[in-house]
Amino acid sequence: MFNFYSTSELIFGNGTSHNSSNQIIDILGKNLFVITDKGLTELGLLEPTIKKLKINSNVKIFNDVESDPSKKTLLKAFEEAKEFKTTGVLGFGGGSSMDIAKLVSLLLGSNQNIETLWGVNNAKGPRVPLVLIPTTAGTGSEVTPISIITMDDKEKKGVSSKLILPDLAILDPLLTINLPSNITASTGIDAMVHAIEAYTSINPNNNPISKMLSIEALKLLGSSIKTAVFEGHNINARSNMLLGSMLAGKAFANSPVAAVHALAYPIGGLFKISHGLSNSLVLPSVLKFNSINEEAKKNYAYLAPYVFNDLDNSKSEKDICNKFIDRLENLSKELKLPYRLRDLEIPERACQLMAVEAMKQTRLLINNPRKIEESDAFNIYKAVW
Ligand SMILES: [Fe+2]
Repeated sequence: MFNFYSTSELIFGNGTSHNSSNQIIDILGKNLFVITDKGLTELGLLEPTIKKLKINSNVKIFNDVESDPSKKTLLKAFEEAKEFKTTGVLGFGGGSSMDIAKLVSLLLGSNQNIETLWGVNNAKGPRVPLVLIPTTAGTGSEVTPISIITMDDKEKKGVSSKLILPDLAILDPLLTINLPSNITASTGIDAMVHAIEAYTSINPNNNPISKMLSIEALKLLGSSIKTAVFEGHNINARSNMLLGSMLAGKAFANSPVAAVHALAYPIGGLFKISHGLSNSLVLPSVLKFNSINEEAKKNYAYLAPYVFNDLDNSKSEKDICNKFIDRLENLSKELKLPYRLRDLEIPERACQLMAVEAMKQTRLLINNPRKIEESDAFNIYKAVW
C-alpha cells in the first residue's frame, strides 16, 4: 500500500510565467500577495509577470525572503499579507520564496498557531489559494508538500502536509536562463540527490511511481547538468534541468529523502552554506557509507547508467556502485563546486557539533538505507573536511 500526492496542475513551457496571468488570477483572486527575494526583483525577472497581473488585480510584493528563510521572515510576510487582505499567494523564486509562500497561505487560511505546525501532517488547514513559480531548477518545492524554515537557534524545522501543495505550478525554463553557473551546479546536484535518495529511501511509502520518476529525473539531469552550467543559454539543457528537478520533487515528495539531506542541514544552518552545495559536499561520503548495505549497493549500481550513460556496465555490481560514487564526486569538481568543508572556512572542530545537529533530523534519518549513528555522521564530516 502507498499514497501518492502531487500538485494538481502544472504549466510547463517558455514564456508561461507571463502568459498565464489569467489562470493565476482565476485561482488567486483580486488581492495577490507575491513572495520573492530582492535579487530577483532587482534583476527585473518578476516584472513581465507582475505587469500582466496588475491589469486585472491588486498586487503587493514582499521581497524580503533570504536564503534559508527564518521564522522571523515568515511571520513578517504573514503580517503584511494579512494587512493586505490577501485573497491568494504567489511564490516566485527559489526554494526559499516558495517555502515561505506555502506557509503564509496556510497561516492566512487557518490561523493555526505556528508552533503546532512543525512535523508531518500537523497542519489543520485550510489555506488560501497558492500558485508557485520556480526560478531555479533544484528544490522541486513547487511539487512537494514540504516547507523548511530556520529557527532562531539555527535549527531547521519542516512542515510536511499535502495542504501546502500549490493549486498550480508554472515552470518557465526562460526564467532560469541567467542563473549563475555556481547556482545552476549546486541546485542541479540537489535535484539529483532528491532522485537518488527517493529511489533508495526505505520509507514505507517508497513506491513504483517515485522510482519511475527518479529514473526519468536522473536521465534528464545527468545528461544536461554540465551543459546548463557551462552554456547557460542553452534552452534545451535549461528545460531538461527544470523538468528533471520537478520530476525528482514529485518522487521525493512521496518517498522522502534521507541521510544526505540530514547531514546537509547542519552545514547550511550553522555556516550559511546553500542547501544545494551542502548536499553536494556530503553526497559521495554518505553514499559510500550506505553502499555497505547490499540493497543500497544494488540500487546505486542500477541508477548509475541513467546518470552517466557512458559508464561501463559489464562490471560487477560493486564495481559499478563504486564507479558511480567516484563519478559523482568528480562531477562536483568538474562543475567547479567546492568539495571540502575546509575550503568553506568550516573549522575541523565543527564536525562534532554538526554530527550532533544531524542526529536531530530524525524524520530524514529513518529513511536512510543504512542506520547512521552520531559517530558515523562525525566520520563522514571528517572525511569531507
Ligand atoms: Fe534538497
